[in-house]
Amino acid sequence: MVKKNACVFISGRGSNLNNLIIKSREYNFPINISLIVSNKAEALGIVYAKKNNIPYLIVDTKKRYFENLILKKMKKYKISLICLAGYMRIISKSFIFNFKNKIINVHPSLLPKFKGLNTYKRVLKNKEIKTGCTVHYVNEKLDSGNKIIQRGFFLNNQDDIEILKKKTQKLEYKAFPEAIIKIYRYN
Ligand code: GRF
Repeated sequence: MVKKNACVFISGRGSNLNNLIIKSREYNFPINISLIVSNKAEALGIVYAKKNNIPYLIVDTKKRYFENLILKKMKKYKISLICLAGYMRIISKSFIFNFKNKIINVHPSLLPKFKGLNTYKRVLKNKEIKTGCTVHYVNEKLDSGNKIIQRGFFLNNQDDIEILKKKTQKLEYKAFPEAIIKIYRYN
């Protein structure tokens, strides 16, 4: 199988990134992780780039043309899929336009419920019966692009923010790779 080159954008811990790197080593997984982009120099996830010898780019989002730097690197590594894995920064409209249907994101709720930040807190406050994660295409509106895969579980009384995060991320580690397989099955 000829694998496509993908790029993962992070801002923090990078546990989804690590999971995708591990998955990408499977011979029939459709992508290689060829580039990692972080908007935070201190993001813990950068360690996975170093450990696995994957090229990485740390961008200073205060600089006006930082997305051009990303585009340049993406060209160099022939990137055809962008996976947002905890990238805490809005992507510009023109960037999204350039990569229409090629940017995907994992979000810790059953979208369209609980778009945006502080998801777990709001899920608990709202006394939801069920929650989960969604992998979706990225469009100009926050957490609103078409769904690719959604996985959920039922809450119980003991669940607090930390427990919900653990349970949700466990599902994300399955759903994100599944979504990528699904995308390439039809391409
Ligand atoms: C993920 O759990 C995802 O739901 C959200 O950001 C989190 C990033 O976690 N978009 P990690 O950096 O992959 O550990």
